[in-house]
Parts: sequence; structure tokens; C-alpha cells
Amino acid sequence: MRRLRRTPLIRELVREVTVSKADLIQPLFVEEALTKNTPISSMPGQIRFSLSSLVREAIELKDRGVRSILLFGIPSHKDDDGSRACDSEGIVQKSIESLKEQLGDDIVVGTDVCLCQYTSHGHCGIVRDGLVENDETLKRLADTAVSHARAGADLVAPSAMIDGQVAAIREALDDNGFKDTSILAYAAKHSSSFFGPFREAAFSKPEFGDRRTYQMDYANPEMAMREIALDIKEGADMIMVKPALAYLDVIYRAKKRFRMPMAAYNVSGEFAMLKAAAREGWIDEKSAILEVLTAIKRAGADMIITYHAKEAAEWLQS
Ligand code: PBG
Ligand code: ZN
Repeated sequence: MRRLRRTPLIRELVREVTVSKADLIQPLFVEEALTKNTPISSMPGQIRFSLSSLVREAIELKDRGVRSILLFGIPSHKDDDGSRACDSEGIVQKSIESLKEQLGDDIVVGTDVCLCQYTSHGHCGIVRDGLVENDETLKRLADTAVSHARAGADLVAPSAMIDGQVAAIREALDDNGFKDTSILAYAAKHSSSFFGPFREAAFSKPEFGDRRTYQMDYANPEMAMREIALDIKEGADMIMVKPALAYLDVIYRAKKRFRMPMAAYNVSGEFAMLKAAAREGWIDEKSAILEVLTAIKRAGADMIITYHAKEAAEWLQS
């Protein structure tokens, strides 16, 4: 076997899995209240952007070869029903408009569709009697997706794990004339400890209870397949498994079974662990990042949503 490992060029010749810049999606946070950028302490190197600096960041990403982003909005005001999520003057909607004005089709603008940054209690849906009410939440999610599409989003990514959300969004998009807006479904999103740093970044920690009545139990890979099958049936154009690293087997199964365009979300906790170990000098940062990204693709993901996108693009050849 060592004949094929002798030189870097021979190794490259026989390499089976490659990561390219086109596979990477950079999540970006934009905060309504900000006039200047704020670093996110739980996610070293990541930033909460103001609207104008968000556009500058997107241009920089594009110049580095990262052409896809996933937007998360942080509104100035929250309420019980998350009503600002679908506001046409909201921070995400305004951000999409200026990104598209500046960059047009030179960037793929994806948006997270959920209510947790917008609700005062921090849950992903409308709460009645202490529980997230499924069907009432659907309408708000659909309105939110339509407002993103109207602003110019290329794809909407519902992440609330509310049953029927993909169907409700597809129907609303079609009814409002957005037949070409695609849906990236957070199909198998697990209730995970690895979302911790994100919730600090986006101020979206639930005030009571947890998300286990809607996000998946990570002990159920067969149920994950059922979640994905349902989202495909409801009209998802692309599917997602989230998180990625402790879920490579789920990614592998999903790709084998469905053969759909598939994203994996290399989440905030995975990012933070790697950064922390690198900062301590316990692992080599660059090689660890490339190893992680390659492993996620090897498992079967076509694209990777990752906070490493910008830095990794510097090291990738194409
Ligand atoms: C919102 C949302 C979350 C993430 C993506 N969309 C947080 C959550 O579900 O609590 C997590 C992303 C990450 O940890 O990087 N529903
Ligand atoms: Zn949410």
C-alpha cells in the first residue's frame, strides 16, 4: 500500500474525497441593534455583524471563493409569538435585500427559518400551556419563509423541527409566486449539547425546559430516516443532518438511502471544541479543520455548513 503514499502528488492522484470551496456554506449572524461588529466570545473568530458590515463580509467571502451563506438574524425586540420573524422591515429581510442588491447571483443567500431568536421565551415556536403549539407555529414559519423569499433569498432553511413545516412553507411559497425559492430542510436536527455556543451568540437559549419535545432524540437513527423521508415528501429540495461530527453515521445512512443533495451542519460546539484545543496547543488547527471537513464529506455530505468556511477557503486549492 505504501507505493501509493510515497509522494504528495501520488497521494493526491489517488485521493478519493476532496473538499472544495464550493461545498462550504458560512453561517453569518446579523444583529439589528448593532452599529459596529461584536466578536462572539463563545465562538472565537466569529462575529455578530451590523447590516453594513455584513455586506462587506459577504463580499470578502465571495472574493475568497465562499459563495454561499446562511443568515441568522438577531432582532432588537422579542415577543411571545416571535412576530418580528416575518416583518418585511426585519433585520434578516433588510440584509437579504442589500446582499442581493450588491451581489446578485454571485452569492447564494440561505436563511434560517425559526422563531427562537424572536420569541421572548427562546423556544422555536409559539408556546401554549408550556408547550410549543405545532399548527399555530406553522403559519408563522410559513410567513417568515415568504418574507425571506420576497426579500430575495435563494433558499430558506426551516430549523424549528415543527411537524409539517416543509409542506406549509412550500405551499406558502408557491401561493405567493416564489416557485423558484428552494427549501433546505433541517430534516434530522437533533437535540444536542453542541448548540451551546450558538445560543450564546444568538441569544436564543430557551428560558424554561429544553427542545426535546421537537428536536430529535440522538439515540434514534431510524427515526432520523423517517424525519428525512417526510421532509422529502413535503417538498424539500435538499436535506440536512445536524450536528455533523457525532452524527457521521446518520449522514452516511441518509445519503445511501435518499440520494438527495445533502448538507451537514458542523455546529457551534464542534467549532468551539476545536478552537479551544488549538488555542491550548493540543491539536494543530489547520490540519484538524481539514480532517474534520473531509470526514464530513466522506460520510456523504455534498455541502457543509461550517464556521470554518472562511478560514478553510484560504487553504483549499479550488
Ligand atoms: C435555531 C438554530 C439553532 C442552530 C441553528 N439554528 C439553535 C438551536 O436549535 O438551539 C444551531 C447552530 C449551531 O449550534 O451552530 N433553531
Ligand atoms: Zn429555533
